[in-house]
Amino acid sequence: MILVTGGAGFIGSNFVLDWLAEREEPVLNLDALTYAGNLANLEPLSGDARHTFVHGDIGDGALVARLLAEHRPRAVVHFAAESHVDRSITGAAAFLETNVMGTFRLLEAVRAHWNALPQEEKEAFRFVHVSTDEVYGSLAPDAPAFTEQHPYEPNSPYSASKAGSDHLARAWHSTYGLPTITTHCSNNYGPLHFPEKFIPLLIVNALAGKELPIYGDGQQVRDWLYVGDHCSALRRVLEAARPGSVYNIGGCNEKTNLDIVHAVCALLDELRPRADGASYAQQIRHVTDRPGHDRRYAIDASLIERELGWRPAQTFESGLRLTVQWYLEHPQWVQQVQSGVYRQWIDANYGNRGGQA
Ligand code: NAD
Ligand code: DAU
Repeated sequence: MILVTGGAGFIGSNFVLDWLAEREEPVLNLDALTYAGNLANLEPLSGDARHTFVHGDIGDGALVARLLAEHRPRAVVHFAAESHVDRSITGAAAFLETNVMGTFRLLEAVRAHWNALPQEEKEAFRFVHVSTDEVYGSLAPDAPAFTEQHPYEPNSPYSASKAGSDHLARAWHSTYGLPTITTHCSNNYGPLHFPEKFIPLLIVNALAGKELPIYGDGQQVRDWLYVGDHCSALRRVLEAARPGSVYNIGGCNEKTNLDIVHAVCALLDELRPRADGASYAQQIRHVTDRPGHDRRYAIDASLIERELGWRPAQTFESGLRLTVQWYLEHPQWVQQVQSGVYRQWIDANYGNRGGQA
């Protein structure tokens, strides 16, 4: 079996669902169920004996040691993290605690387990550390896309904490031989995306008749990847990547935030037109920018294509259509995640920006 951390969050739950749809190998899913973790994401697996969920913290060394000894996974896929840049700006401590110290404690528990494995199992073992393109910092408009050799230049508490965890994963390979592999993925979107993030926030706000908040001039560029394509890349990495290797994962879909909001509005105009016949684009509102806002990310994913033969299956157009359709078909999921805690975050983040998100 494999151990997945953070498997109740956005990408982790998509990964677990896709994994069990594609293969028979069981999954042990360790998640602390923070505000971002949601057991409803895993509802399709209820009664599936191949999925074992454990409510717990990656930083709980005793728990992780017990789980490793009991279940003897052949690999760890490490998603668990604090992941939202805006939250890292108002509360960095949780990011350092989970992303840096949590990853450190997880690496130590895994190392102790891995050290004691018989030689053959030791050689086959893998620890996939799921990181982000944000650790590379911000690109000038005409600069080439990030390669795996790009220097680390993190600009937010989130990306700094992810950079810290990347260095730990690298050092645990160099120093102790732990077979870690690090991946740097660009912005994901798709089903089960918590609506504090840009694309799902736009969809749920549009449908609720609220404003669509665009930070600053909206000319910031992100390289969007459908979440299912990130999952297929990680499966391929687990299958074929060498210990110590690093891969960038991206969709070759550079879009400005204004491109995104107009694409979402156009799809909603087509699939769920407003009662008054006007476009959802009327709800767009520019609000105060995010401090330290990275201007552009772009991923050069040629290494993973060349070495592992991975390519995304979705175009941006097909992936966004699937995503908007999923939100239209899952109003109960949306309603359930918009709890009091969610409302508090929306009020805190948008209350002073001059918008009314
Ligand atoms: P998310 O915030 O949706 O989910 C994170 C999950 O981790 C949640 O289920 C949460 O409960 C769990 N978690 C948090 N702290 C924990 C702890 N101490 N112990 C156990 N579980 C804990 O995040 P996501 O968007 O799914 O991102 C998953 C990973 O992928 C993160 O490491 C993130 O840095 C990375 N990543 C995300 C993107 C993206 O666009 N979302 C892109 C590239 C990389
Ligand atoms: O690049 C990978 C990263 O992508 C991941 O590592 C992070 O975990 C993930 O959250 C994401 O970070 P971003 O900051 O790029 O994503 P977010 O959805 O928060 O914002 C996307 C862009 O949209 C960014 O330029 C900020 C802008 N934005 C965001 C929100 C929430 C707005 O203009 N308005 C908003 O209300």
